[in-house]
Amino acid sequence: MTMNQERVLSGMRPTGALHLGHYHGAIKNWVKLQHTHACYFFVADWHALTTHYESRDVMERHTFEMVIDWLACGLDPNACTLFLQSRIPEHAELFTLLAMGTPLSWLERVPTYKDQQEKLKDKDLATYGFLGYPLLQAADILIYKAKYVPVGEDQASHVELTREAARRFNHLYGRESNFDVLLAATLEKLGKDAAKRLEKSRKAFQETGDQKALEGALGFVGSTPLLTSDERERLAGWLRGTGKTILPEPQVLLTKASKLPGLDGQKMSKSYGNAIAIREDAKSIEQKVRTMPTDPARIKLTDKGDPNKCPVWQFHLVYSDKPTQDWANQGCKNAEFGCLTCKKPVIDAILREQQPMLERAAPYVAHPKIVREIVDAGTDRARITARETMMDVRTAMGLNY
Ligand code: TRP
Ligand code: SF4
Repeated sequence: MTMNQERVLSGMRPTGALHLGHYHGAIKNWVKLQHTHACYFFVADWHALTTHYESRDVMERHTFEMVIDWLACGLDPNACTLFLQSRIPEHAELFTLLAMGTPLSWLERVPTYKDQQEKLKDKDLATYGFLGYPLLQAADILIYKAKYVPVGEDQASHVELTREAARRFNHLYGRESNFDVLLAATLEKLGKDAAKRLEKSRKAFQETGDQKALEGALGFVGSTPLLTSDERERLAGWLRGTGKTILPEPQVLLTKASKLPGLDGQKMSKSYGNAIAIREDAKSIEQKVRTMPTDPARIKLTDKGDPNKCPVWQFHLVYSDKPTQDWANQGCKNAEFGCLTCKKPVIDAILREQQPMLERAAPYVAHPKIVREIVDAGTDRARITARETMMDVRTAMGLNY
């Protein structure tokens, strides 16, 4: 990790031990990104509380179990910053300040708001905290001025809200208090004709959405030798109507959904009881795969099957090489062997994938103190950036007294 790499940020709610769906769906990608970007990964424990506000007894255990799983998967504390949301209260400060100018309707129309209320019917989610979930997420992202946010499709609307919140913030507070005077002076430097042309382009963009006009004007502002960089930024803000960029808009880095389903073919999830935990015991993994449902047409050994009707086949697609896949596919269609035979290479491959994870996790399981230290160090590092941003934010909002 070096200073000039682009910043990536993502978080995960502490749900306790992670499963293979988390690994193949998200963390494998994080592990890759830590080598190419300045990565910040954090435990979103406050987000967990928005839906599980009564779960205080498991919070701590779930948090540190998850961090051990991250380390087991190959997140390297020397290559990325691992930290805890609740230990950086600046997140809450930014959340509060963003909340002031965020219309209620923005939050009410985020699709996950109603979806989750429907799904988690047994919980009372008509809370202020739950409504604020995506805005808290926006604060998490904006406080680190992250460029990329790797998340699944289900989180895309939250990143979109983050972009809107940033745009609004920059629009409301990106203007210097003497902006009009400074702007006039800057335009004067360019001469009457250029100033007139820029004003025309600005109107065309802001009133009719003319992108070409905006690009042309920005091109001119960016290339004319007459301006300082502050002046360029001031003019760019004036042209776009956004003011100075205090909180940059992040981009979503969509992670493709994991191809690995749960044991029953549904989405893998602990609450469906169809998951294999990352550090699950070998015997239990073997038992779970052996009892996985298969194509119901295969009752007797001589009954031919169709891999497309079998979740084990989905596991082969993730875990097996081409020759093994061909072997399973042919053997199933021609009834050359029983399902237990077909499952054997899958069991072996899961255990093989798991071996280095168990090895990486072992010292942390034996010495939980090391995990605390890793998280402490990461949190201290993250806090520096968070505090810097908050200085800018407070200044921009007239709160630096
Ligand atoms: N809402 C995310 C999830 O459920 C977790 C999260 C919280 C997050 N804050 C974030 C993800 C900021 C990315 C960036 O998966
Ligand atoms: Fe599934 Fe393999 Fe059995 Fe076919 S042979 S039904 S792919 S487990």
